[in-house]
Formats: sequence, C-alpha cells, structure tokens
Amino acid sequence: MALLLAIESSCDETAVSIIRGEPGHAAEVLASEVSSQIELHREHGGVVPELASRNHSLHLRGLVEKALDDAKVAMPDIDAFAATIGPGLASSLLIGSTAAKGMACALGKPFLGINHLEGHLLSPFLDRTSIPPHLALIVSGGHTLLLDVEGPGVYRKLGGTRDDAAGEAYDKVGKMLGLPYPGGPEIEKAAREGNPAAFDFPRSMLADPHLDFSFSGLKTAVLYTLQREQGRVSVPDLAASFQQAVIEILVGKTLKAAKQARRKVIAVSGGVSLNKALRSAFESACAAKGYEFVTASPHLCTDNAAMIAFAALIRHLHGESSPLNEDIHPNLPLV
Ligand code: KG4
Ligand code: ZN
Repeated sequence: MALLLAIESSCDETAVSIIRGEPGHAAEVLASEVSSQIELHREHGGVVPELASRNHSLHLRGLVEKALDDAKVAMPDIDAFAATIGPGLASSLLIGSTAAKGMACALGKPFLGINHLEGHLLSPFLDRTSIPPHLALIVSGGHTLLLDVEGPGVYRKLGGTRDDAAGEAYDKVGKMLGLPYPGGPEIEKAAREGNPAAFDFPRSMLADPHLDFSFSGLKTAVLYTLQREQGRVSVPDLAASFQQAVIEILVGKTLKAAKQARRKVIAVSGGVSLNKALRSAFESACAAKGYEFVTASPHLCTDNAAMIAFAALIRHLHGESSPLNEDIHPNLPLV
C-alpha cells in the first residue's frame, strides 16, 4: 500500500492530488484539487506564462493543505511526492516540481518527476486494476499523438501532428469566431445548434497511409470561409462543420492505427476527449468494428494532478524514483 501526493503545474491549472494504491487493485483518489486560471488568462485570449507561474505559487500551498484535509492524512503519512517535470511552460513547471522536491527532501521520502503526457495517457485506466496493451490517442491543447502501448512505460509512437494540435486548432478557430478562450468547449456548445454538413472542410491526411495529422489546412479553410462570407456566416454551422472534420480525422486515423498495431483496446485521453460528440463518435465506431473503447471520466480529461499521481504510483510501485536534482524539461518527449 502506498500513499502519493502529486502536483501538476505545467500550464494554467494548479492541481494537487493524493492517491492510494497497491499492485492488483484499482487506485483510490483521496483528494484532487484543481485551481483553474482560465478566467485570468481569458482577457488575454491565451495563457500568459508570467501570470501563470505567479498564480501557481500563490495557490499551491493552500491546495496542498486542502488536499491533505480532504484525504484526512498528515504530511508524514505520504510515501512519495511527485510533480510534472514536462512538457510545459518552464516557469510553471518549476513551481510545482520545486515544491514537490522540497516536501520530499524535508520528509526524507522519494521524489518522482512525471511526464505530463504519461499522466494523460494512463488516465483512462485510473479506476482499473491493470493496464492492458492498447492503442492510445492523446488529444490535448499541445499534443495529438498516436501510441502503441504495450504496458506502463513501454510506448511506441505511431503518429503525431505535423503542425497544430487538435485542441490548438479548436482554440484558434474559437478565436476567429469571436468565442471566449479556450475555444474547445465553446465550439462544442455552438456546434450543438449547427449543421455539421453545412461546410465541406478538408479532412487533411485522412486518406494517406501514414498515421500523422495536420490541422492547419482545416484552420485556414475556416478562416477563408469567414473572409468570403463577411459576417453572413452562421457560427453554429461553422463550428459544427469544423468539429465534424476534426472528429472524422481523429476517429479515422485512430482506428487505422489500432488495425495496424493489432490492438483490440482503444484509449483516448487529454482535454479534447472531454468533447461529447467526439466520445460518442468513438463509441459507435469502436462498437461497429469490435474494439473496446476506454476514456477517462470527465474530471480527469483536462489537466489535473490525479493523473500525475496515478502515473507516479505505477512507477513508485515498480521501485522507481527520480533524483532530487532532476531538472524540468519544457519540451520533454514521451517517446
Ligand atoms: O489536456 P488539456 O487540459 O491541456 C493540455 O495539456 O493541453 O487540454 C486543453 C485543450 C484546450 O485546447 C481546450 O480547448 C480543449 O482541450 N478542450 C476541448 C473541450 N474541452 C477542452 N476541446 C473540444 N471540446 C471540448 N469540450
Ligand atoms: Zn494536458
């Protein structure tokens, strides 16, 4: 049995989680605090790194205290401390990782530096007793990544985006449509009232045999439509047509990857996987082709510390730890 405390501060959410687990049992999340800075960054139309790190340091201590309170445990009961060490904003990563190292050092406990993407990747399995071999799609604001997963720590990259990430495309199109930041949830909301067949946007690279993605052509097609229609365009129709293209590309490429890798389980994670239309498109496509579809519960899709604690728990139970002088890595790759 191990008790872990993890901090996530790679971008604009400050998060602390306490998790308990042992081999062969589903992990138990005892606390998961998230302090979102979305409102703060909204007036700037995107994340301002300086504001983000200042707010991480302002909120972190209170969140750690609240997590210990919620979990009804005392600091000395924690067996190991973890934090995201990359990828992300350097000044934000430093706040969380330095705090976790400080606690580990003061209490003489191990520290684990965790890759944010591994947190997303494993999050769909947090309530399960084991992680089966599977095909994974990570779709977030910074990444669109297809991976063949043999088991925890054994990953093979099959494809990734050659330009914008899917979430980034949502956010940029949201901005073009005059919707508040972040664009993802706003486009999903607008799309509910729109016709997904109103505009025939490109499904870039969908028919190509490789497993890479490209979303910049789609983004430009939306921009040209807006310029051509000069204010006469229906925002819900445009949002629904854009979203339909994204969904077809993501589902099409992921199923192609699962077939190539001969996996029967498909797991989708990351902020964009919160999108209900995307989830239901995956559900029906997987049911039709005989794949098991696994995704994280909604509160684990966007950035949180429970996913970091879970990735750290798996490594800790395997006897792994990181040196206390482990640096942050803003461009840390997963594979
Ligand atoms: O995983 P995440 O919280 O942070 C990163 O690691 O990037 O993902 C944030 C991204 C943003 O681009 C946001 O617009 C997108 O996830 N997102 C959504 C939805 N909710 C968040 N995209 C589409 N539909 C949503 N409902
Ligand atoms: Zn993320």
